[in-house]
Amino acid sequence: MKKTVAMLLSVMLLLSLAACGGSANTNTAAPSKTEETAPSQDAVSENEPERAEAGTEAAAAAEPEAEAGETAEVENATEGEKALVVYFSATGTTKEVAEKIAALTGADLYEIKAAQEYTEADLNWNNSDSRTTHEQDDTSARPEIGSDPVSLDGYSTVYIGYPIWWGEEPRIMDTFVESCDFDGITMIPFCTSSSSGMGRSGKNLADNAGSGNWLEGQRFGAGASESEIQSWIEGLK
Ligand SMILES: Cc1cc2nc3c(=O)[nH]c(=O)nc-3n(C[C@H](O)[C@H](O)[C@H](O)COP(=O)(O)O)c2cc1C
Repeated sequence: MKKTVAMLLSVMLLLSLAACGGSANTNTAAPSKTEETAPSQDAVSENEPERAEAGTEAAAAAEPEAEAGETAEVENATEGEKALVVYFSATGTTKEVAEKIAALTGADLYEIKAAQEYTEADLNWNNSDSRTTHEQDDTSARPEIGSDPVSLDGYSTVYIGYPIWWGEEPRIMDTFVESCDFDGITMIPFCTSSSSGMGRSGKNLADNAGSGNWLEGQRFGAGASESEIQSWIEGLK
């Protein structure tokens, strides 16, 4: 009799353990977009982009409301789905938005830096002889990039950000997209400007890239809030 009771208890214990495993699988089967794009730790190497800073305000806002154990399950299940935020920023406005996107999505960050940095005089749009005026006047201008090339291996989503210059993308963005293969990658443009919209910039980049699945993109003003950026990201799902 004792033996039978012991066997019955063992069977019940095994059945209850299987149910816990089952519910964890249900949790991991349908991760949200934010979770899908979380990077895996091991893929960041020297020439690869910086990781988003942990512990920023935006990162805290994006923290899922789950027990530590549950979060780990979800991250493990989505390993291999990574997002990257690529940006160029001459005066820091686009950089701020890029950092917020990275913190909110857990994406990596890569900054496109000009080989020859843009000075204040270069950026003077009131001067018809300034560097940027000449570059933007010439659709074939391709300013050299000074930052190390980025590897896009393993990224399924790339947010790509820049300021609007004369209604378009800075020509250095064309240098960048022409140097990359975005095959199989969802490309999400975003820009900052004083008042202009994205204009033709997203289409120009898609045309010049010649690869990638380019979404419409979004313009932000200076000091765009985390909640504004968060709702845009939510709308992309
Ligand atoms: C050369 C140049 C041209 C610009 N052209 C426009 C424009 O056509 N429309 C607009 O709204 N803002 C324009 N701006 C303002 C920038 O788009 C805006 O300040 C942007 O947020 C700067 O981003 P950054 O700090 O990341 O470089 C221009 C700025 C520069 C330097």
